[in-house]
Amino acid sequence: MSLSVVVLAAGKGTRMKSATPKVLHPVSGKPMLFHVLDAASRLSDDITVVLHHQYDRVKEAIETEYRGIRFHRQDAERYPGTGGALRGIEYRHERVLILNGDMPLVTTASLLRLSDAGGDIAMSVIPLSDPSGYGRVVIEEGEVKEIVEEKDCTPEQRRIRTVNAGVYCVRRELLERYIPVLSSENAQGEYYLTDIVKMGVEEGRHVRPVYVEEEEFKGVNSRFDLAHAEEIMQRRIRRYWMLEGVTMHLPETIYIDVRAEFAGECELESGVQIHGRCRLENVHVKAHSVIEEALLRDSSVGPMARIRPGSDLTHSQIGNFVEIKKSILKGVKAGHLSYLGDAEIDEGTNVGAGTITCNYDGKAKYKTVIGKNVFIGSDSQLVAPVTLADDIIVAAGTTVTEDVPRGALAISRTPLKIVADFYYRFFPKART
Ligand code: UD1
Ligand code: CA
Repeated sequence: MSLSVVVLAAGKGTRMKSATPKVLHPVSGKPMLFHVLDAASRLSDDITVVLHHQYDRVKEAIETEYRGIRFHRQDAERYPGTGGALRGIEYRHERVLILNGDMPLVTTASLLRLSDAGGDIAMSVIPLSDPSGYGRVVIEEGEVKEIVEEKDCTPEQRRIRTVNAGVYCVRRELLERYIPVLSSENAQGEYYLTDIVKMGVEEGRHVRPVYVEEEEFKGVNSRFDLAHAEEIMQRRIRRYWMLEGVTMHLPETIYIDVRAEFAGECELESGVQIHGRCRLENVHVKAHSVIEEALLRDSSVGPMARIRPGSDLTHSQIGNFVEIKKSILKGVKAGHLSYLGDAEIDEGTNVGAGTITCNYDGKAKYKTVIGKNVFIGSDSQLVAPVTLADDIIVAAGTTVTEDVPRGALAISRTPLKIVADFYYRFFPKART
């Protein structure tokens, strides 16, 4: 890993129109910057992230997930621009890969192509039908001669369609000499990193263009770009898991977080959403169910069920309109219309339609513990904290407010009254 990496992430991202720094906007569950750091981490043990706008917030977010990343604060007032961003950074290795924090789709394979390209500088280029907004790349005899920013282009240069994608691999020694002497005498009054190309060429250095995929290297600038990047990433994630043995019905309608994992044989029906660090092993998720940060093994869920964070289900069958939150279910059936929150439910237990764990009294949350082989009749409420031992029957419509011992029946009902012929007294005309 004889490569240092710098990730440029100091920009404000104005076009996102957001109080959240651009690089922290998630794509498939992870901030876009983290996707870049993941790709970089596979190539380098020396990663520096350049920050300025909301420095502390971005740094703290990175530190919750990554160890050993270095941070560089750009003096963006005095040294604005991509060249200013690199002022004062020290590198451990001979070559430096420079990336942007807003390229969540960039792959390690493409970065390897750049870092293996050789030459004194290798840079990413893309031929675009509409090159507007990008720096134009002047290529002669297969070598890059110059990058001209759009605002500095002559009308002739403006017609060049090969653009700078903004990723470079540069010999450290060149950066150390060129960055301190960059000038800001240009249309934007910024220090352009791109000027190192011209400086290199003047010294007789070789600058290699590396043609890259637009899909991977096009940066995210707006929420429109963000949604587009997510669509592309979803396609990659689904494809990966299908090839790993997950069956998907109408895959275009399925959303899978990049942190989710599948094992064994899983089946996902249309409209399913898997959010966060879920792990599913031999699970059938039926149409339009939502699963968040949960563990599921040998179970089926849905259609239209919601399994919320902290749930751990084994050998269970969860049916339509059932919501489960932070509950451990082992061998449980809950077929219809229930809320099970902060519960522990053991093998062989059947949860009838409309059962609710009343886990919240407006101040705190309480647990419901249910043993083995408990039959909970429909429309029952379990007022937590409450414990039901093994082998219990809870009659339909019961409100359980006390612990129930093993083998018992729990029943709470207003006695039923039958009033004969009441209907005909109430609607006298109905009598024939
Ligand atoms: C830059 C290139 C341009 C290229 C384009 C590709 C320069 C001078 N121009 O354009 O040739 O086509 O990228 O996207 O480099 N950043 C900082 N500090 C700054 C300014 C930017 O860290 O002072 C970071 C941004 O957060 C972003 C990256 O650098 O991650 C690129 O910045 P952006 O403003 O999008 O690119 P340009 O400078 O316009
Ligand atoms: Ca800019």
